Amino acid sequence: MVSNSLVHVLLVSFPGQGHVNPLLRLGKRLASKGMLVTFSAPEGFGKQMRKANNITDQPVPVGDGFIRFEFFEDGWEEDDPRRQYLDQFLSQLELAGKQAIPQMIKKHSEQGHPVSCLINNPFFPWVSDVAESLGLPSAVLWIQSCACFSAYYHYSRRLVPFPTEENPEIDVQLPFMPLLKYDEVPSFYILQLLILSWGRQFWASSRILDPKAPTATVRGDFLKADDCIEWLNSKPPSSAVYVSFGSVVSLRQDQLNEIAYGLLNSGVSFLWVFRPPPKDSVFEPVEIPDGLLEKTRDKGKIVQWSPQERVLAHPSVACFMTHCGWNSTMEALSSGMPVVAFPQWGDQVTDAKFLVDVFKLV
Ligand code: UDX
Repeated sequence: MVSNSLVHVLLVSFPGQGHVNPLLRLGKRLASKGMLVTFSAPEGFGKQMRKANNITDQPVPVGDGFIRFEFFEDGWEEDDPRRQYLDQFLSQLELAGKQAIPQMIKKHSEQGHPVSCLINNPFFPWVSDVAESLGLPSAVLWIQSCACFSAYYHYSRRLVPFPTEENPEIDVQLPFMPLLKYDEVPSFYILQLLILSWGRQFWASSRILDPKAPTATVRGDFLKADDCIEWLNSKPPSSAVYVSFGSVVSLRQDQLNEIAYGLLNSGVSFLWVFRPPPKDSVFEPVEIPDGLLEKTRDKGKIVQWSPQERVLAHPSVACFMTHCGWNSTMEALSSGMPVVAFPQWGDQVTDAKFLVDVFKLV
């Protein structure tokens, strides 16, 4: 039974694994300190989360508090093709969320659990507007690196020269940071999208939070993890490469071929997380080359989703080939795992620069 006296914090997350994980970590941390935390995200992601992690409507005790989940409809059919276009999807989520979140807050108030504060992640700046209109405090959990935050800030304020479409090869010098070569700056499309979607209220929000590692019982994965630990247990210490590119990157066929033949020729054991892009998606259909596992004499294992933090902590894993999403970067750093950086876009190129040249995790 959740006491009415607990402070109630509402977290509202963009539906992406790289956004959900850090916000949920923060939620568990807050709950463990004796608060009631409601974690909310659009229903499409919620459905997958419930299925993969056995989440129910019941609040889960975490330390001295509780965490519970409540999702909201985004107003589009599940197979609506517009979901694949981030800018259109973001606009729809804002439209739906601006209606759903105030109703959710009203309901909790009537039930004796008034919300005291809202926390969101960067693709949902409208949550700050909702909070302001209800007279509630709000904060943004930044889910990328401080270096990228500084890049976005200096870009949006035009404080230092950045690459442009006309002049794409400008290196960028930000205060207190190593020189970023033009291809180490967060990619242009993401810069534009973030800056446009944040608008005034994002920079006006001075409460940017920094998540600390929590104790984890509740998880927010969008897929159920395949069993990899038993397979890793059967391998000698420091013998296997873990290959994973997060939840949204889709590699080209020629990139997959290079990685596959690299693994084959090196003769090492490997655990590779690979999901073919969904049918009818904007991505070309790609596959891991036929017969790879047989050719490596079963030295490899391919899975659709792994329990990544456990994999990185496993003594049989010697190295992590990663796209350098910020969560994977932090997880590699905190487990001290050497990386082969294979960034694709957005903040990943800057994270790779820091992993290799600054943190020297190679
Ligand atoms: C996205 C962007 O791609 C990334 O650049 C940005 O920094 C955050 O948002 P994503 O691509 O999903 O994130 O990568 P990442 O930030 O690394 O997050 C993936 C999360 O999923 C990690 O916490 C990782 O542990 C988890 N994961 C990934 C699994 O648990 N199992 C897997 O098989 C793969």
